[in-house]
Amino acid sequence: MNFNNILTEYDNGITTITINRPKKLNALNQETINELHHAFKEADLDEDTKVIILTGSGEKAFVAGADISEFADYTIEEGEYLAANGQKILFSFVEQLSTPVIAAVNGFALGGGLELAMACHFRVASDNAKMGLPEVSLGVIPGYGGTQRLTQLVGKGRAMEMIMTAGMIDANKALDFGLVNHVTTQDELLPLCETIANKITKNSMVAVAEAIKAVNASFEEGINGYEVEIKAFGKCFGTEDFTEGTTAFLEKRKAEFPGK
Ligand code: COA
Repeated sequence: MNFNNILTEYDNGITTITINRPKKLNALNQETINELHHAFKEADLDEDTKVIILTGSGEKAFVAGADISEFADYTIEEGEYLAANGQKILFSFVEQLSTPVIAAVNGFALGGGLELAMACHFRVASDNAKMGLPEVSLGVIPGYGGTQRLTQLVGKGRAMEMIMTAGMIDANKALDFGLVNHVTTQDELLPLCETIANKITKNSMVAVAEAIKAVNASFEEGINGYEVEIKAFGKCFGTEDFTEGTTAFLEKRKAEFPGK
């Protein structure tokens, strides 16, 4: 599929998706949200793609938020639909992918940009990154899951302060808060993400997918995460990867996972 606002590149088991509207600081307009949905879906279905890295183009921004020019005159109903549809086709969609998704946060990650980074399975930032949920400064609140995921990641008090002040935190503060896992230079950001991705791909991707499902279950209302874990654990025993992983250990050799 051809995209107007994103670039995708495949190399050695990793698909990198780059949001490519640098003049608008990669702000998420509807077309970009739709294209991201399709790009993530394609990468998830692609058997060769083991890990997805998401980043922004240019040196300034990951994503500076939802595109304000598109929703400035929306009605109550349109606003509600905007959030519901975005959450469904992109934010919750990414979170629930069975392929691991790493956000490489290379600059501003504001509003919908931080929400998108938080929907990824984990985040790595460059040292120029700035993160925040400035929606209340526009008279609105985060609508792409930000009130929920920021609270899960940094705790209620920190989330409340960040959301109420509409302020930005720098990469080191985000590291301190547990919002990002690593901070590095801008040049080293994608190489570091690739190194982490390569560590992941040495493992059973079937088991990794089950682990994502079980960890996510911890945050789903009405779902008992321990039960999901038990089922997923049992399911692994029926996979070729499990046979290979345990046999390789007992034979003192490296596992060659078939990914089934
Ligand atoms: N939606 C639409 N356009 C955006 C945008 C957004 N969220 N963020 C940036 N842009 C556009 C600007 O309008 C500008 O476009 P123009 O050159 O056609 O005027 C371009 O991107 C560059 O942004 P600019 O504001 O000139 O860059 P800056 O370095 O002075 O400031 C920010 C950077 C990120 C501080 C500033 O752009 C900003 O506050 N953006 C909005 C952040 C926000 O509130 N996000 C939450 C949305 S819900």
